[in-house]
Amino acid sequence: MSITLRVFTDLAQNAIDPRLYGNFIEHLGRAVYTGIYEPGHPEADARGFRQDVLKLIHELDVPMVRYPGGNFVSAYDWEDGVGPAAQRPRRLDYAWGVTETNQFGTNEFMEWCKAAKTEPMMAFNLGTRGIDAARQLVEYCNAPAGSKFGDLRKAHGYAEPHAVRTWCLGNEMDGPWQTGRKTAVEYGRLANETANALRQFDPKLELIACGSSGPLMPEFPDWERVVLEHCYANVDALSIHLYVREDGHKSLADYLACPAQMEHQIRDVLAACDFVKAKQRHKKTMMLSFDEWNVWDMAKGNETFARWATAPRQLENIYTFADALVVAGMLLVLLRHSGRVRYACMAQLVNVIAPIMTSPGGAAWRQTIFHPLRQASRHGRGVLLPSHLTGASSSDTPTHGPSPDVEALATRDGDHVSVFILHRGQTAPAALTLRLDDGASRWRVVGHEVLANPGDVHAVNTEQAPETVAPRQVTDTHVAPDGTVSLSLPPLSWHVLRLAPAGA
Ligand code: AHR
Repeated sequence: MSITLRVFTDLAQNAIDPRLYGNFIEHLGRAVYTGIYEPGHPEADARGFRQDVLKLIHELDVPMVRYPGGNFVSAYDWEDGVGPAAQRPRRLDYAWGVTETNQFGTNEFMEWCKAAKTEPMMAFNLGTRGIDAARQLVEYCNAPAGSKFGDLRKAHGYAEPHAVRTWCLGNEMDGPWQTGRKTAVEYGRLANETANALRQFDPKLELIACGSSGPLMPEFPDWERVVLEHCYANVDALSIHLYVREDGHKSLADYLACPAQMEHQIRDVLAACDFVKAKQRHKKTMMLSFDEWNVWDMAKGNETFARWATAPRQLENIYTFADALVVAGMLLVLLRHSGRVRYACMAQLVNVIAPIMTSPGGAAWRQTIFHPLRQASRHGRGVLLPSHLTGASSSDTPTHGPSPDVEALATRDGDHVSVFILHRGQTAPAALTLRLDDGASRWRVVGHEVLANPGDVHAVNTEQAPETVAPRQVTDTHVAPDGTVSLSLPPLSWHVLRLAPAGA
């Protein structure tokens, strides 16, 4: 198989919003407690923020973190999580069957965001509550002192507004598991009226309405159409969620092809968005917020715990090398659609279906999926470059149909070009020729990382062996005088190539 990837380095297909590499912290399992926040841990600062975890988050360079849920938010009273910690109530969390101690709340999250060098994306409770609680929370976060909620924040020790710009209007409001589930009409009206009130406070807020919780929901994609028919003018983006898992696939090849599901889902949701745009004669184009995506096997990673326990192990999926390749494939889909996907959040960041794991009182380490996420977040910014791949074979898969054995795309940030290549084939190496523009050698390779099969596609990283699956540097990749790069891609491998101008 001889494959050519042409990359047009002087052109731009679209800008990539850095928030494509967002993430998610929900009050769920050990994401907050013994994840990002563990007072008394040897690595915790005076506020209880684990510095070892923050170091890994800095490595990921996470531009935005969604909070506080997820399903949790739909019965959350934000007032419980502010003010003197000793006076905060312990509340029962219906979504996850646990007790929420409220020792970490909105202000702690805002402080933690600064420490994590990230920006908050907040979600409102539109399950049990509505417009009033939403407007009060926005005022608490963003209003100046001298108003009721600005003064309350000041009394809690935060004189300056938190200036949160991005807000989710509820979470998965079509899900039967959601506290306060709504029909599309009920939710569409509520989202619109909430957005309307918030825009009266600040027209510049970025507001995201809930799309369906997944493509298998019975109302998908009619939910999207109906919701947008009610709130299109007032919102900036519509959410999409997708979780995939190996279980249920017929073979490894079938599983590795599953990012195609994400591709189809984006196309279907965009069709609903653009239909409403045309029907209602809007000028604005609706953006997407893929604010939950990842590999998640619901049967795994849940300890047995007494009802209403505090921060038990929930959703602690341990990721394999194969999962990392699937995450790489999902990142390619997000990048390919970055002209319409403005925000995306891997779900989630620490311990709960997460790239980072911690042990209480112990270490923090990188799961396999950490690596493609870090590489894309660090190197897949700026603009998406037009590129054209020819010669790649494809394999028929029972669940996802024909699936390309090799996929690739390129981005440019300033004068650096990054090329991302995924080889899903399992038997033979693939020869790929990368052609940059015009056949002259204007570039030099400044980095080539490969995540290759460690010998067992189900290999994982653990606290004891945290580096079993990790990328290695390739040092003998060069640009030939004619401007081409010849690559031999081992079966089951993920590559990130970095190029800089030859003279620089
Ligand atoms: O990320 C885990 C859960 O998945 C979230 O709480 C919910 O929004 C989704 O169903």
